Amino acid sequence: MPDVVVEDASVTYHGVEADVLALEHVGLSLPAGEAIALIGPSGCGKSTLLLAMAGLLAPSSGRVTVGGEQLLGPRLRTALILQDFGLLPWKTVLANAELGLVIRKQPAKESRHRTMEALERVGLAEFIHACPGELSGGMRQRLALARALALDADLLLMDEPLSALDALTREDLQDLLLELWRDRGHTSMLVTHSIEEAVYLGRKVVVMTPRPGRVAAVVDNPLMGSAGYRQTEVFYERCAELRALLAAEGALHPDAAAAAAAGGAA
Ligand SMILES: Nc1ncnc2c1ncn2[C@@H]1O[C@H](COP(=O)(O)OP(=O)(O)OP(=O)(O)O)[C@@H](O)[C@H]1O
Ligand SMILES: [Mg+2]
Repeated sequence: MPDVVVEDASVTYHGVEADVLALEHVGLSLPAGEAIALIGPSGCGKSTLLLAMAGLLAPSSGRVTVGGEQLLGPRLRTALILQDFGLLPWKTVLANAELGLVIRKQPAKESRHRTMEALERVGLAEFIHACPGELSGGMRQRLALARALALDADLLLMDEPLSALDALTREDLQDLLLELWRDRGHTSMLVTHSIEEAVYLGRKVVVMTPRPGRVAAVVDNPLMGSAGYRQTEVFYERCAELRALLAAEGALHPDAAAAAAAGGAA
């Protein structure tokens, strides 16, 4: 599995009206096989950072290395899951899951085999002929994951993949993400707006400042993945710690920030 290093990266978008400095001197290191969660205020540059790590956007200055090599474009084994899942509505579940391999021009027979295995793994083998419109939100998310698995991704980048789901489906899929990470050991980066999700799925949680995004803090969370973690005192303490950090960055509603400052759960 590759490590990822973001070295002093800045990104400026050149708009019609004005330029927007989205990221400013971001330095970040993902050790090989590590699971990182990234949290920060809306508009702080989380998606921008993910695109840079996927090789889809070149930093205006600084650089990104994956496995020690400077990233100059997309990699074969990097999978990026976007908030809207990136599914093609007119293609079947099977075709959608196979898409990453087809785009990367992988051999057809092996691709089909790997895609079927991946669909099996996420519990969608019975639905291969359905189209995304016939699936529930949770199933669509599973399909997006299957595409990443079929690619045998060694670097999985996810941009708020679970935010559109109801609470129960969301917990179910958080457990699936955890299980897949444990089984496969890929390097993983999850962008989320949820403090609890960041603590449940990140062995390190990176907190960003408001735009222009910089790394405000990295919180170690070594017990992530341990049995029943969600119900432990340490889990609660980590959430409170993150809430306080986000409040300090002005990322919370004033009422929630006041509660965090008072040590309560907002
Ligand atoms: N293609 C673009 N052109 C111009 N400006 C952009 C573009 N994409 C993003 N931006 C600007 O860059 C900043 C960072 O955007 P980005 O989407 O990375 O934030 P984010 O942290 O992912 O936000 P959210 O939490 O709302 O998804 C924002 O101010 C946004 O308006
Ligand atoms: Mg975003």
